[in-house]
Amino acid sequence: MARIVVIGGTGLIGSKVVAKLTEHGHDAVAAAPNTGVNTITGEGLAEALTGANVVVDVSNSPSFAPDDVMNFFTTSTSNLLKAEAEAGVTHHVALTIVGTNRPQSIPYFAAKVAQEKLIRESGIPYSLVHATQFFEFVGSIADISTEGETVRLPGALVQPIAAEDVATAVARTAAGSPVGDVEIAGPEAFGMDEFIRRGLSFRKDSRTVVRDDTAPYYGAVVEERTLVPVDGAQIFETRLEEWLPLNPPRA
Ligand SMILES: NC(=O)c1ccc[n+]([C@@H]2O[C@H](COP(=O)([O-])OP(=O)(O)OC[C@H]3O[C@@H](n4cnc5c(N)ncnc54)[C@H](OP(=O)(O)O)[C@@H]3O)[C@@H](O)[C@H]2O)c1
Repeated sequence: MARIVVIGGTGLIGSKVVAKLTEHGHDAVAAAPNTGVNTITGEGLAEALTGANVVVDVSNSPSFAPDDVMNFFTTSTSNLLKAEAEAGVTHHVALTIVGTNRPQSIPYFAAKVAQEKLIRESGIPYSLVHATQFFEFVGSIADISTEGETVRLPGALVQPIAAEDVATAVARTAAGSPVGDVEIAGPEAFGMDEFIRRGLSFRKDSRTVVRDDTAPYYGAVVEERTLVPVDGAQIFETRLEEWLPLNPPRA
């Protein structure tokens, strides 16, 4: 049976990926600092990859400051790919973002582009799952865009997706053969402002969301179609209106 190591396997997506793979009878192991595996320091990495056929990387940087994110994804990915080559891993699966391969200047995306480049050049067969924004980030996108009682966000389109659906896509990819780049998204596209307005309104949050096409998204102005998938993306069914009542904000 293929052994699948999930780096970041204790996180939002990673814990769901491990659960789904296990449910389907795979030998899946969560690897993260709190299970003794650290891709930055290298601690526990060689041991964790012993006997692994597939590695899934759904780790994330503890800090989103531009230099920290760049350092995290380049250092972590380089260490991981080197350890995978030594362990004879035959499939590297990483979760990245829809829009990294289009012109944009979002600092977080630059770090994901650098991560993708290392993977493409590693010689290890890979799958890069590009996901749209997660429903789970309604609150944090609102918070970074709030001044006083006003949330300013552009009308640039997003086609957000539930973390559960992202995990389904990543787990299926890990259980299959390497596919290169694929895009996944939820069923509906909205303006970024409308996505957050619906989320806050459902949660009876008193802030007002104002459309402002000059407002940044994670540090940069985005074009109307940068963040939405192209034809051929895999579209998942969970709608925002179904998801909201089942997912009250985390305390
Ligand atoms: N936010 C979005 O809308 C969006 C869209 C598309 C793709 N993505 C991508 O989705 C991926 C997963 O995001 P998420 O929200 O599930 O992340 P998350 O909940 O923050 O989880 C991050 C995971 O990474 C682990 N980690 C942190 N530092 C590590 C290290 N040095 N070595 C090994 N593991 C480490 C954490 O372990 P500890 O808990 O032990 O620290 C945790 O398990 C990210 O790569 C992100 O770029 C996000």
